[in-house]
Amino acid sequence: MSDYLLEVKGLKTYFNHFNKQVPAVNGVDFVVRKGETLGIVGESGCGKSVTAMSILKLLAPEAKIVDGQVLFKGKDLVGLNDRQMTRIRGNEISIIFQEPMTSLNPAYTVGYQIGEAIRTHQKLDKKTTRSRAVEMLKLVGIPDPDKRVDEYPHELSGGMRQRVMIAMALSCNPELLIADEPTTALDVTVQAQILELMKSLKEKFHTSIMMITHDLGVVAEMADYVIVMYAGTVVEYSDVKSLYNKPLHPYTEGLMNSLPKIDDPKDKLEAIPGSVPSLYDLPNGCSFWPRCPYAQEICKQEKPELYEVDQRKVRCFLYSGKIERR
Ligand SMILES: Nc1ncnc2c1ncn2[C@@H]1O[C@H](COP(=O)(O)OP(=O)(O)OP(=O)(O)O)[C@@H](O)[C@H]1O
Ligand SMILES: [Mg+2]
Repeated sequence: MSDYLLEVKGLKTYFNHFNKQVPAVNGVDFVVRKGETLGIVGESGCGKSVTAMSILKLLAPEAKIVDGQVLFKGKDLVGLNDRQMTRIRGNEISIIFQEPMTSLNPAYTVGYQIGEAIRTHQKLDKKTTRSRAVEMLKLVGIPDPDKRVDEYPHELSGGMRQRVMIAMALSCNPELLIADEPTTALDVTVQAQILELMKSLKEKFHTSIMMITHDLGVVAEMADYVIVMYAGTVVEYSDVKSLYNKPLHPYTEGLMNSLPKIDDPKDKLEAIPGSVPSLYDLPNGCSFWPRCPYAQEICKQEKPELYEVDQRKVRCFLYSGKIERR
């Protein structure tokens, strides 16, 4: 057995859109080890959420996993039916989303909803379930949990609702927590508190985390390893320190350059020129070449593989030995 908790291999998820196949996730590989946080970054539309939803098989009816494996503790989830997936969701793998108001039901108290999450997987009586819910609210730092447990989602602030979502997600002690832009909708101070909370819970329970974000600051703060996605594929895979010291892929380099620099605030932000290509009409060769400052002839003709560089991986011909940077 490997030490991988999750191993995603060659995952392809396509949408059927007016009889056209849209390759939202087009051959994605990565691993998450026990207790590790993997950051997934990339611009809007690059396939981060579809990757997450593919793992949990929470895809829209028009989406289909057409190839690949999602090995969770060595077992492939792709072939599992709904009933089998229900046993895994919330119990072994949990997910939290950006906007807790859309995930919480406004008609039920938070205590009831945490209780439901627990009761789906464990047979507990009403009283025990309630005290577990209170315990969970306390764990995620909600003041007066005994009182809050009987409140409705609209009575809580955005930050508190996100804490409730985390409480719900962790209520069955999952081994993997997928967080899809968990702090994007929150203001900066609350965002920092939620990230701190996730970090401390991770240390306490050794939960592995897949942290999806477009915010490189969040990744630097939280992740051990990072995958950078572009147009449905992984273009770079690296430990977080090396990625920030020296991004390998020109796209990662572009993302880094578009971050404000603390030591030189006057330095102008360099946004990456152009925009993400339409998945209907991907360029030949490397998907990034129209925006790449180093693009050469081969990049326009052939698709690069993931090349291995110092235990990192990068999908770019500059690392293939075929061309040089100029
Ligand atoms: N129901 C759908 N039908 C067709 N295409 C879809 C559908 N849902 C998503 N897509 C496409 O799949 C691609 C990947 O979407 P995804 O939601 O994974 O992006 P993302 O990386 O999570 O972006 P964001 O940062 O905005 O959340 C997008 O280009 C999107 O247009
Ligand atoms: Mg998304």
